[in-house]
Amino acid sequence: MKLGLGTVQWGTAYGIANKAGQTPESEIPILLADAANAGVRTLDTAPSYGTSEAALGRQLPSPNEFRLVTKTIPIPGDTITDASAAAVADAFHRSLATLRQTSVDALLVHHGSELLRPGAERLVGVLENLKKQKLVKKIGVSIYTAAEIDRALELFSPDVVQIPASLVDQRLLRSGHVAALKRRGVEIHVRSLFLQGLLLQDSREWPPAFEPLRRHWESAMAIARRAGVSALEAALGFGIGRTEFDILLVGVCSSTELRQIWTAYAAAASRPFDADAFAFDDERLLNPSHWSTAK
Ligand SMILES: NC(=O)c1ccc[n+]([C@@H]2O[C@H](COP(=O)([O-])OP(=O)(O)OC[C@H]3O[C@@H](n4cnc5c(N)ncnc54)[C@H](OP(=O)(O)O)[C@@H]3O)[C@@H](O)[C@H]2O)c1
Repeated sequence: MKLGLGTVQWGTAYGIANKAGQTPESEIPILLADAANAGVRTLDTAPSYGTSEAALGRQLPSPNEFRLVTKTIPIPGDTITDASAAAVADAFHRSLATLRQTSVDALLVHHGSELLRPGAERLVGVLENLKKQKLVKKIGVSIYTAAEIDRALELFSPDVVQIPASLVDQRLLRSGHVAALKRRGVEIHVRSLFLQGLLLQDSREWPPAFEPLRRHWESAMAIARRAGVSALEAALGFGIGRTEFDILLVGVCSSTELRQIWTAYAAAASRPFDADAFAFDDERLLNPSHWSTAK
């Protein structure tokens, strides 16, 4: 089972398609039980995901087989100083307490762009130190751009790299960055398989600025639909088909959504379709960091 669960939706009202708001905490034990039964082991969280870490701390059954991935706090300023590096270490210890854990499976630099700043070695030093102390099994980074991957590989040997990828966003595959990470034995976690839920929404409801992507998506989906493949199956099928991807992190707001994902996941593997036809290349529409201007 390559599926992992992202939990930003459990701590904040997150997502361009999100009409339901933050997932009620009462839903989380059900989601965790369903996930565990289906063989999901990876849970992705972060201190900047609102109450996500705290909710997981309260709701995770003990013992459990989940592998927790959390992230560093955002660092203000243009330079990574000793003080900001120390603040990252302190915040990680707070994350452990909030998650009610003595260690986590992985700690990722939340914003790969921080590795492009002067003093980034200090940030890497904090992660390597926590790994030496066995408070984290793996260290790594969550990125938005190829340049952040290049810089990370210059600075250290990440165990895990989280990348955005989906049917419409195959840029890091085509650029060779995914292959470069695999050559270095890096575990790849993929997020935004549903582009924050947009790909699973009726595209007529997409904001007007997404029109170029909508036309492209609809022409590719027309072929997939003729082959009996739904948008959810296509989105998952793309991730399942890429053997380079180790974990497919999906965000869900309800156990209904989770169950739909299982069913589609099981079906997707046996429904081949041409994923190449979906690849799109407009950073402005593919990178949610730019979306505030793309309404
Ligand atoms: N920089 C980073 O490190 C970073 C950035 C973003 C995300 N993440 C991680 O990645 C995880 C996934 O987030 P994402 O943004 O990448 O989202 P995503 O997985 O691409 O999309 C998640 C959204 O898809 C919709 N959805 C899920 N199942 C569905 C179903 N069965 N039918 C219809 N809609 C469904 C839900 O939206 P609605 O129910 O609202 O429609 C949900 O919020 C996050 O939880 C977080 O852990 C990390």
